[in-house]
Amino acid sequence: MGNQSCALENLVTMNKTLLHQTYNGKKVFLTGHTGFKGAWLLKVLKLIGAEVKGYSLEPENKFDLYHLIGGDHLCESVIDDVRNRKRLKEEVLSFQPDFIFHLAAQPLVRLSYEIPSETFEVNAIGTANLLDAAKDLEKPCSIVLITTDKVYHNNEWHHPYREGDRLGGYDPYSASKACAELVIDSYRNSFFNLNKYNQHKKGIAVGRAGNVIGGGDWAKDRLLPDIARALGNEKTIIIRNPSSVRPWQHVLEPIMGYLLLGSKLAENPLVYSQAYNFGPYTNDALPVEQMVKIAIQSWGGGEYESLATGSELHEAGLLKLDISKAYAELKWTPKMNAYQAVQLTMDWYKQYFEDAAAIIEKTDAQIHSFISVTEAII
Ligand SMILES: NC(=O)c1ccc[n+]([C@@H]2O[C@H](COP(=O)([O-])OP(=O)(O)OC[C@H]3O[C@@H](n4cnc5c(N)ncnc54)[C@H](O)[C@@H]3O)[C@@H](O)[C@H]2O)c1
Repeated sequence: MGNQSCALENLVTMNKTLLHQTYNGKKVFLTGHTGFKGAWLLKVLKLIGAEVKGYSLEPENKFDLYHLIGGDHLCESVIDDVRNRKRLKEEVLSFQPDFIFHLAAQPLVRLSYEIPSETFEVNAIGTANLLDAAKDLEKPCSIVLITTDKVYHNNEWHHPYREGDRLGGYDPYSASKACAELVIDSYRNSFFNLNKYNQHKKGIAVGRAGNVIGGGDWAKDRLLPDIARALGNEKTIIIRNPSSVRPWQHVLEPIMGYLLLGSKLAENPLVYSQAYNFGPYTNDALPVEQMVKIAIQSWGGGEYESLATGSELHEAGLLKLDISKAYAELKWTPKMNAYQAVQLTMDWYKQYFEDAAAIIEKTDAQIHSFISVTEAII
């Protein structure tokens, strides 16, 4: 046991050192910092010593993860719209970042059917606005732009999608993110061409991840938040599409992928200015009903009911990501399976409903324990 805990401490120290080497004391401009993934990334960045400036809209609720972790104390927070091109540029240029992580987006498929043109504006034009700002930045900068697995033209194939596969989207959200990728590609060719790296000194990479779960997500129409809300309020969980199989993974997995990609990009922009998939192992998908059962078991009790939706909206079939490129080039792999990811997520929500005042400690503990087992950054 003594040797084991010593080995664990060494591993933690080694991982911390590697993340620290890249980000400690570095300036990171983070869009979407008030959102679910952005708040987790903000917390990890602070733990590894980065100075962060966030740019997003106001968090929607006072119980958002950003507020719960004391986000305003972790970064300089700018509240504005990515469609405000002038302000966005001013904020990027006045900060002079070493890294940019772009997560701000309208990320909901169902909402994208209600506000399609706004979704395109925020996701595609917002990305162009950010890259416009980066164009005027006269210093080296590593830029990681976050899209989604939904950028792939879904052929309902059984085999996993690879980075070179055709892009396209059926619903407005997926199409807007595929548009964002075209925007990125165009800027990379036109303004950040690798042949002229010595002039612009920008590395531009894309992280494509699938649905993620984790504490602090309160979005509507997402399974785990719906489950947590029902269990926390002692109500029956209502599920749609119980047999629908989805490849969810814990939010910390792609976040480590984005950080690792940023690190590699800073080290060698000519090699890593590309798109990378970050997803679970392809055999690690679970039906919705089984996810609900695991969540109830982790929580220690609860009831659920399956409902037919009668929804007219198109729902894409299962889309799997091939993650062999991230493994081969970044040495990134998932560290938890879906079962463990659900357990960790429910552990967070249970803490929130039992004693929200201790949620910062719970979030930190989950990050530390995740870093301690990850080899992604070794
Ligand atoms: N959560 C997932 O399962 C998932 C899966 C794949 C990809 N993604 C991508 O990850 C990123 C973050 O998603 P999330 O789940 O954290 O979403 P979220 O809704 O929790 O957060 C979205 C963030 O974007 C900001 N934002 C939205 N519209 C904005 C605007 N017009 N101007 C400025 N900021 C704006 C919000 O203020 C918030 O900070 C998105 O790009 C999303 O497409 C998420």
